[in-house]
Amino acid sequence: MCGIVGYIGSREAYPVIIKGLKRLEYRGYDSAGIALLNGGLKVYKKKDKVADLEESVIGKDISGTTGIGHTRWATHGEPSDRNAHPHVSNSGNIAMIHNGIIENYASIKNELIKKGYTFSSDTDTEVLLNFIEDIKKNNEGTLEEALRIALKRVVGAYCILLIDKNNPDTIIAARKGSPLVIGIGKNEHFLASDASPIIEYTKEVVYVNDYEIAIVHADELILKNLGNEKQTPFITKLDMELSAIEKGGYEHFMLKEIFEQPQTIYDCLRGRMNAETGVITMSGIQQYEQQIMNAGRIIIIACGTSWHAGLVAEYVFEELCRIPVEVEYASEFRYRNPVVNKGDVVIAISQSGETADTLVAIETAKEQGAIILGILNVVGSSIARKSHAGAYTHAGPEIGVASTKAFTAQLAVLIMVALKIAHAKNTINKERYLLLCKELMEIPDKVAIVLLQNNNIKALASKYKDAYDFLYLGRGYNFPVALEGALKLKEISYIHAEGYPAAEMKHGPIALVDEKLPVVFVATKDSYHQKIISNMQEIKARKGKVISIITEGDTVSPTLSDDIIIIPPADEIVAPMLSVIPLQLLAYYIGVAKDYDVDKPRNLAKSVTVE
Ligand code: M6R
Repeated sequence: MCGIVGYIGSREAYPVIIKGLKRLEYRGYDSAGIALLNGGLKVYKKKDKVADLEESVIGKDISGTTGIGHTRWATHGEPSDRNAHPHVSNSGNIAMIHNGIIENYASIKNELIKKGYTFSSDTDTEVLLNFIEDIKKNNEGTLEEALRIALKRVVGAYCILLIDKNNPDTIIAARKGSPLVIGIGKNEHFLASDASPIIEYTKEVVYVNDYEIAIVHADELILKNLGNEKQTPFITKLDMELSAIEKGGYEHFMLKEIFEQPQTIYDCLRGRMNAETGVITMSGIQQYEQQIMNAGRIIIIACGTSWHAGLVAEYVFEELCRIPVEVEYASEFRYRNPVVNKGDVVIAISQSGETADTLVAIETAKEQGAIILGILNVVGSSIARKSHAGAYTHAGPEIGVASTKAFTAQLAVLIMVALKIAHAKNTINKERYLLLCKELMEIPDKVAIVLLQNNNIKALASKYKDAYDFLYLGRGYNFPVALEGALKLKEISYIHAEGYPAAEMKHGPIALVDEKLPVVFVATKDSYHQKIISNMQEIKARKGKVISIITEGDTVSPTLSDDIIIIPPADEIVAPMLSVIPLQLLAYYIGVAKDYDVDKPRNLAKSVTVE
């Protein structure tokens, strides 16, 4: 939520910041702004996208070698020019950008109003900024000191960047709960919410920790904690190429990411899974293998698409490892006083590794003695650093707001972990174990086969794009896939869609069925197949339109379907990695057919860093 970029050095800051904001636009895109120092302080901001900001500054003075920029996902105050960041303090000297939420802003605002401060926006950010300025004025101290005092009173999450007209050689930054990466160049520094704006300039970065303040000059980076003690910056080398964050000839990131899946799943398995010998090497979880084997319970915590991956994992772990599993929405888990026993294993699943609900939920579980394993895509992310151990999904940067390749990579990792534990616990026989290892390794090639259905699915999208509602049904391992298909459609095409376990339909949703309702069946050949055929019949009897995802060789489902999408045969445990692909493409093409911005659907942001 909200993207932040800063630059200090000898280049012109504006192009660096604008390019960076475009890369971070997936984090929020309802307004954007930039502040530059060059003799004075210049601030430009605009409702809507970064491109609108760019257009609005044509002909204006955009020079300066120090600057900060922001792309916003609104929390306090509607999307508008005046609520866009950067905000400027009452004196006109200090500009600030912020990602996060200041929860106690109202009481601070009241104090400041009594002192005569005025506000030109509805944001919590402007309150914090003037609070800092007020402390600076009263203490006659530096901006850094004032910031430190202010942050001790602040409740909430933040990553903030500050520049001061009277101190143009410095950017001051601080974080708690919202990410901040600093790229180290030659006599220049780059600051950003993630590494994507930095990667083309330097691969050496420092991930700033919670409760740290960074004092950044062109030639020096000083890190301090809130107690004013210097911290040693830990420099990490980025393992990412620029091409990974560009569209590579595809019309949208979402389509590129859907088509990347044969490779991303392979990258996730590569070096870990040896299907011939059945050896699975996962160094990240090795140390905790015994605890997972002996866990009384596994609690999976996640949100959105990652939560759907967790639901598939629930079936897989229970089936293979015989360990009870609970899958929790992170936002609910945190606030319902959950029972966590010492020795429970918590698996946090998150693409971004920054989702605030998930982050807070694992902190709660950790305090109660659980072991936290992170299944994450973004290396070095906040959840990665809060977890005891885990495994990265290695899917590469996912830019499209609708998650696609992250889901299949999460499944690949989760299935590998389950297989490894089941093998160690002896809850799976050798034959089935080796078969599943082989099945998993075959998935990348089979995904490539599913992708050959692209044109067929595009045609289906144009046939069904005007429907008002969709129902997605699946059973067993394919039930979470039905949920995921419905979520994708909602996000990208703004069509109401619901996912249900197919058998649950007769307990209510069947009342929705008429000749206008498309019902998508995820009906691959598995142990539930006969049952789902009966459910198809129930829909057909009520004249619903049936679109079925079926396994090659199935001769019954086509007789009950208006349209079919055929996928290769696969064991039911790995089949969700195939059956989800047509649903991703269907949502994508319906969104495109309706002329929506599928990479940046309305009201959404890629990384949800507010609770
Ligand atoms: O980064 P995370 O995996 O923690 O994100 C969780 C959800 O916010 C995310 O999956 C969201 O639902 C996506 N927009 C789904 O496409």
